[in-house]
Amino acid sequence: MIFLKELTLNNANDILNDIFNTQENFEYEYVSHSTEDTRELGKKFGEYISQGNIITLNGELGSGKTVFLNGLASFFGIEDDVCSPTFTIVNEYNIDRDFPIYHFDVYRIKNSDEFLEGVGTDYFYNGACLIEWGDEIISDILPKNTIHIDIYKNEKDKELRTFRIWRKS
Ligand SMILES: Nc1ncnc2c1ncn2[C@@H]1O[C@H](COP(=O)(O)OP(=O)(O)OP(=O)(O)O)[C@@H](O)[C@H]1O
Ligand SMILES: [Mg+2]
Repeated sequence: MIFLKELTLNNANDILNDIFNTQENFEYEYVSHSTEDTRELGKKFGEYISQGNIITLNGELGSGKTVFLNGLASFFGIEDDVCSPTFTIVNEYNIDRDFPIYHFDVYRIKNSDEFLEGVGTDYFYNGACLIEWGDEIISDILPKNTIHIDIYKNEKDKELRTFRIWRKS
């Protein structure tokens, strides 16, 4: 059994400071017991995110990818209009900063070739990118400093989610 270092709302500031301000590899676990716990984690990430950051969110349908991103957006005062950009691939949120947030859902893209042709990588540098399904579809073209978040549901407890937050360069 592998015990990952636990990230909680109490130690999140120290850990997120490291995650966002170094290039180092890491692996943390966050346990969410409710939709609200997941929103709170997203909101915390909002405090640290800046231009050039890329975060992928991976996990089955209904695991909480969009809930996390809703929480992140709420840090910037964006409350209502955060839904998966299923038909447009990317939504842009203009926040009160000198960079925008790009919210991708690449579920309907076949592979990274299609992403490069249709979307391109300029977004990676022009703003902060949040990419639902990123690792399943375009992992081969993601920059090394990408922050990966995998979300796991629990068969017994319908509200339990385990987050694995990692970077491996
Ligand atoms: N601990 C939890 N964290 C997040 N969501 C939870 C949790 N417990 C229950 N839920 C519910 O699970 C659902 C998650 O939906 P969400 O749209 O975020 O999933 P998703 O991963 O974005 O799915 P899709 O791949 O379809 O876009 C919501 O209805 C939410 O209320
Ligand atoms: Mg979603």
